[in-house]
Amino acid sequence: MADPQTSLAILEGTDLSEDRLSTLDSQVYSVLEDIWTDRSDPANPIARGGGNLKRDKCVALHNLVSAIRPTSTIEIGLFMATSAIVIMAAAQRAGYLGHIAMDPVQSSAMNNAGIKNIEKAGLTPAFSFLEAESCYGLPYIIMNKKMSFDFAFIDASHHFDHTMIEFFYLDRLIPVGGIIGFDDVGVPAVKAAINYVAANRHYACRKTGAFICAVKMAEDSRHWFEFNRFDIPETDQFLSNIYKKTGRPPRLKKYD
Ligand SMILES: C[S@@+](CC[C@H](N)C(=O)[O-])C[C@H]1O[C@@H](n2cnc3c(N)ncnc32)[C@H](O)[C@@H]1O
Repeated sequence: MADPQTSLAILEGTDLSEDRLSTLDSQVYSVLEDIWTDRSDPANPIARGGGNLKRDKCVALHNLVSAIRPTSTIEIGLFMATSAIVIMAAAQRAGYLGHIAMDPVQSSAMNNAGIKNIEKAGLTPAFSFLEAESCYGLPYIIMNKKMSFDFAFIDASHHFDHTMIEFFYLDRLIPVGGIIGFDDVGVPAVKAAINYVAANRHYACRKTGAFICAVKMAEDSRHWFEFNRFDIPETDQFLSNIYKKTGRPPRLKKYD
């Protein structure tokens, strides 16, 4: 695994904009193109658009993972497996041990669409999956497998508590110099979790294209009394934009 300064230099020095996706293996690329093709059909229970990683983010993720050259990778939130396919394709080389993803609804709500995409891309040999929420899947891996990952990607519930739990457990699965990438950093709850990490843990957080990447600089060595304030973003504008876009009012009530 790279030392933390090398990981930071990779984050700061990698060109994330050059689109090299079409240089991917044609079998892999055709699956990605198929995912990005909008064939949304109200009769189809599996949304073809929705939450999968769009092309520009995949370009950045591909360049980032190619530069990191991870030995093993892990991801929270499989969905259509867009990011999983990009991560595995970018990491493929002699010595790459593979990718683990977890998601609680891949079979129940997605008819295994992500797993099927990985099969179509020919990447199944590098892939393992846990149909579980991260709060169960991550401690399961910690307790039962002697594994370590040098790149982790979080694109899951986007709730503050879940994102914090994901960070907490991933920290125990990555070595010093390892990198945790967060997607959807414009979501206030995700940004708040990253702000906590930057203020309270031995991590250096860098804006990396549309993502924020947190590099593990050292193992946790806080005294019991240490706690730093961290910024919690405003939420009103964000909630109002979501409401305008989706027509979905917030369900969270305030209780006295
Ligand atoms: C935005 S999508 C992920 C998109 C995926 N990265 C892609 O590119 O196709 C979010 C996924 O996270 C999953 N998810 C939500 N909460 C989760 C949790 N607590 N643990 C693991 N996965 C979760 C959802 O079921 C959903 O499939």
